Amino acid sequence: MKKTILLTLLALGAAGASAADAGSARMNYMLHCSGCHGLDGAGSPEAGVPTMRGALGHFLQLPEGREFLVKVPGTSQSALNNSQVAELLNWILQNFSRQEIPVGAEPYTVREVTAARAQALDDVSGRRGEIVKRLQEKGFRID
Ligand code: HEC
Repeated sequence: MKKTILLTLLALGAAGASAADAGSARMNYMLHCSGCHGLDGAGSPEAGVPTMRGALGHFLQLPEGREFLVKVPGTSQSALNNSQVAELLNWILQNFSRQEIPVGAEPYTVREVTAARAQALDDVSGRRGEIVKRLQEKGFRID
């Protein structure tokens, strides 16, 4: 009897935690990112904010692409901590570019975010250009 109650509480706790993570990632996106990237992730390409829709997941095809999504100033210089950034990037990918996420790609972890965030990019658009070119050579299109 006691065991059943304990297991039920554990199950409820786990469900509550993952729902709260998704809820706070969504809230963090709205508060910290949507001003430039739009509520739907479409950005404003004419103003230099690339769309995340139908594109962002392709970056996960390359280790340097994965790293770039963390290092880009909007992400790395946000007021969010590394754990919030990991959750947020995973949420963004799932919500705006699910179809492009490579099969078997691992979600971002706090560890990966911490490592990538430790070194800033000095030439954001140059770095993006190199990555987009490498992706295009592999057949993945990003505008
Ligand atoms: C002040 C406007 C602004 C805010 C706020 C902002 N970004 Fe960005 N973001 C940009 C611009 C502009 C780019 C294009 C690269 C660059 O110049 O930094 C970009 C690029 C990106 C990219 C790479 C997309 C690509 O195709 O290159 C990611 C990922 C990203 N931002 C995530 C975020 C996240 C996560 C947040 C919120 C925590 C955020 N950004 C907040 C303006 C912003």
